[in-house]
Amino acid sequence: MSEQLNGFVKGLAKAELHVHIEGTLEPEMMFEMAARNGVRLPFATVEETRAAYDFDDLQSFLDLYYLGAEALVSERDFSDLMAAYLRRAISDGVRHAEIFFDPQTHTERGIDIGTVIEGLAKAQREVESEISSMLILCFLRHLPASAAIEVLEAAMPYRHLISAVGLDSSEVGNPPELFIEPFRAAKEAGFRLVAHAGEEGPAEYVRGALDALGAERIDHGVNAYQDDALVKRLASEKIALTMCPISNQRLKVFPDLRKHNLKQYLDRGVVVTVNSDDPSYFGGYIADNYVAIAAALELGKNDLKTLAINSINASFLGDERKTTLLAEIDAYV
Ligand code: ADE
Ligand code: ZN
Repeated sequence: MSEQLNGFVKGLAKAELHVHIEGTLEPEMMFEMAARNGVRLPFATVEETRAAYDFDDLQSFLDLYYLGAEALVSERDFSDLMAAYLRRAISDGVRHAEIFFDPQTHTERGIDIGTVIEGLAKAQREVESEISSMLILCFLRHLPASAAIEVLEAAMPYRHLISAVGLDSSEVGNPPELFIEPFRAAKEAGFRLVAHAGEEGPAEYVRGALDALGAERIDHGVNAYQDDALVKRLASEKIALTMCPISNQRLKVFPDLRKHNLKQYLDRGVVVTVNSDDPSYFGGYIADNYVAIAAALELGKNDLKTLAINSINASFLGDERKTTLLAEIDAYV
């Protein structure tokens, strides 16, 4: 039955809307790159690294995630990383991916933002006939808004390679209102807008992401459920939530997946999508996330179809490609 579910999910055309490219760095590749670049890693072996991926909360994960990212140095590293993710996504039935990257994690170490973006974009171009993809530049919310404005300006020569701007990193204590200015500047430059909110932070941060930042989608949003009026608003305004069930389990947002609120949101008409977040660190790519949440919440084929349809509708694709992909889903189920 589980094999059957896995096969069905992999064959279902879908979009991935919430994946951090740095979070796809598998330990094998991390060690290869660290050796190539003369970077010292905090672990001796691949096995030791994986064993350390036992998290208490978002911050305990972020601490390791930023250390791991130090292995990434050259344009080739960023290109190899993106190529490996896209190959994996294709095999999971992903037809379109909108992919976060954290430029400040790299520019703070003296790496040119052009090295990062050109490397990622090269790999995107190489498989564009098999999977369409877009880049989302994320501001790190543990750093000041002035640093976000600086990185946005540094990215402007590569404006044509970036579709949207987002907000990630340590949520609690760093409310969306701190980033009004960089989001206003991003909107003026024509970027689409998204933001992580309500992962560990309160429903109030989801309201802030919508009202203060103008976010068009909410990344995670699980804690919006505490606010009934907000849930009604998400449904009526068709504001999509990009949920990441295995991430929520591994970061102890919902230690038991059977307690996850994804199905409650679906039943209330919210545009919920399923995504992988940081698959290397959490041990599951997008198809694994569909399978895990389907098993935990006893979702049927119609729910899975709805999740796939939502992912296409909530993407930043144009109407023509959306129509093609929706027809593919319809023919499959
Ligand atoms: N950066 C990478 N993964 C993240 C997550 N789940 N939440 C916030 N920032 C992140
Ligand atoms: Zn995320």
